[in-house]
Amino acid sequence: MSSSDHPHICTIHDIDEHNGQPFIVMEFLEGQTLKRRIADKPIDAEQVARLGMQIADALEAAHAKGIVHRDVKPANIFVSTRGQAKVLDFGLAKLLPSESEISTTDLSSTPALAGTLPYMSPEQLRGVPADTRSDIYAAGVVLYEMASGQRPFRKELATRLVEDILHQPPVSPRALNARVSPELERIILKCLDKDPENRYQSAKEMAADLRRLAAPSADPAVPAALPTRVPGREAGHNLPTQRSPVVGRERELSAAKKLLLRPEVRLVTLTGPGGTGKTRLALHLAENLLEHFKGGVYFVPLASITDAGLVVPAIAQTMGVRQTGGKPIIEDFKEHLQHSYGSATLLLLDNFEQVIGAAPLVAELLEASAATKILATSRALLHVYGEHEFAVAPLALPDLKRLPDVKALSQYPAVALFLQRAVGSGQAGQVREDGAPVRAFYDTIEVVP
Ligand SMILES: Nc1ncnc2c1ncn2[C@@H]1O[C@H](COP(=O)(O)OP(=O)(O)OP(=O)(O)O)[C@@H](O)[C@H]1O
Ligand SMILES: [Mg+2]
Repeated sequence: MSSSDHPHICTIHDIDEHNGQPFIVMEFLEGQTLKRRIADKPIDAEQVARLGMQIADALEAAHAKGIVHRDVKPANIFVSTRGQAKVLDFGLAKLLPSESEISTTDLSSTPALAGTLPYMSPEQLRGVPADTRSDIYAAGVVLYEMASGQRPFRKELATRLVEDILHQPPVSPRALNARVSPELERIILKCLDKDPENRYQSAKEMAADLRRLAAPSADPAVPAALPTRVPGREAGHNLPTQRSPVVGRERELSAAKKLLLRPEVRLVTLTGPGGTGKTRLALHLAENLLEHFKGGVYFVPLASITDAGLVVPAIAQTMGVRQTGGKPIIEDFKEHLQHSYGSATLLLLDNFEQVIGAAPLVAELLEASAATKILATSRALLHVYGEHEFAVAPLALPDLKRLPDVKALSQYPAVALFLQRAVGSGQAGQVREDGAPVRAFYDTIEVVP
C-alpha cells in the first residue's frame, strides 16, 4: 500500500538489502511506540479517544484498499512527539510473518508469539481467516489497554489466555479506571465482542464514534489563541520553539523567502512526501519572516483534523477571532482579517493534505483579506488559483555506492541530522564506524516484534 498519502500510517519508502543486511527506509518519526507510551499506565481519556480515532482512520483507509493489517498492537503503533498516532505500514505488516495464520497448536508451543496472542480475535484463534473485523477487535484491545493500562486478558499461559479470549467477558474498563466515560467504555466493549457480527462492521463507524468523543476544541495540537494584540506593538506569533537547530536548507530558505515576499504571491505550498522536512522548513521560514508580518504569524497545525469543516474554526481559534453567533464563522473571520489589523498577516497551515477539501475556503480567505498570505505544508497541492508550489526535497544524501570517509559523510545535511538526533537522544555516545547509532535508531522503533 502506498501510504504516503495517509497521515496516520507510517510511510515506508523502501525495503532493500545492503551487504546481505536487510534495511528499511522509512519516514523519520520522533516519539515512541504506543507500547512505551502506555507502559502499564492508563492514558488520559481525551487522548485515548483521539489516538483511537486516528488508528481507526488508518484502518479504514487500509480496509478500503482491501488490506487487513492482522497485527494491530501497541508495538506496531507509533505516537509522535506531537501526539499523532502512526500505524506501522500495512505493506510491511504483510511482509512480516503473518502470526494470525499460525494455528493455535503452534501458538501454545511458541513462546515468541506470546506478545501478539493477546490481540488476536476469537475467530482468528478458531482458525477463521482474519477479516477487517479482526482488526477492529485488535484495535479494541489497544483502546482497552490505553484506557485502563492493561490488556483485557492477561493469563500468562497461552492455552489459558486463549480460553479467556474465547469465553470470558472482559472486566469493565471503568472498573479499572474511573475516568473512563461510559461512552468510551461502550465503544471499547463493542470492539471486543466475541461475535464479529456484533462489533463495529467498519473502522469508519468506529472512527465516527471516537471522533464525537474527541472534541476538537480540546485538542492540545491546536495551540492557544494569541493574546490580544496591542496596536503599535511588535507583531505576535505562536510558532513553537524548536529544540534542535535546523540542519542545512540555506538555499531553500532564501528561495522560499523571496517567493513569499513577492507582492503578488499570496499562497505558497511546500510539497513533498511525509517526513521530507516541510514543516521544519516552514517554521524556519516563518521565524525568518516575522519582521515582514506585523499583523502576526499564526501556526495552525491541521494534522489531527480530518474534517475539512473544522479548518476555519481551527484558524479562527488560533487567531482569537470572536464569534458573533448567528452567521457562519467564515464571515466573522473575514471581518476580523479586514478590520482588526489591516497589516500583513501570515498563516502557516500545516499538513493541509489532511483537509484538502477545505482548499476553496482558503481561496475565499485570501480573497477576503489582501493583507493575508498563506504558507501551507501539504503532501498534495491545494489546486486553488494563485497557488505557488515549492517542492521540498529530502536533505542531500551521499552516493550509497561510493561512500566517502566518516568525516566527509558528516558534511551531508541528512547524515548530520541523523547523527545529531542519534547522539542527542542518548542512543549513541559517539559516532562509531560500525554504524552503532543506526542500529540504535531502529531499536528505538521496535519495527520487528
Ligand atoms: N533541516 C532540518 N534540520 C533539522 N531537523 C529537520 C530538518 N528537516 C526535518 N527535520 C526533522 O525531521 C523530522 C521530519 O520533518 P518534518 O516534520 O518537517 O517533515 P514533514 O515533511 O513536515 O512531514 P509530514 O508530511 O509527515 O508532515 C522532524 O523531526 C524535523 O524536526
Ligand atoms: Mg509536517
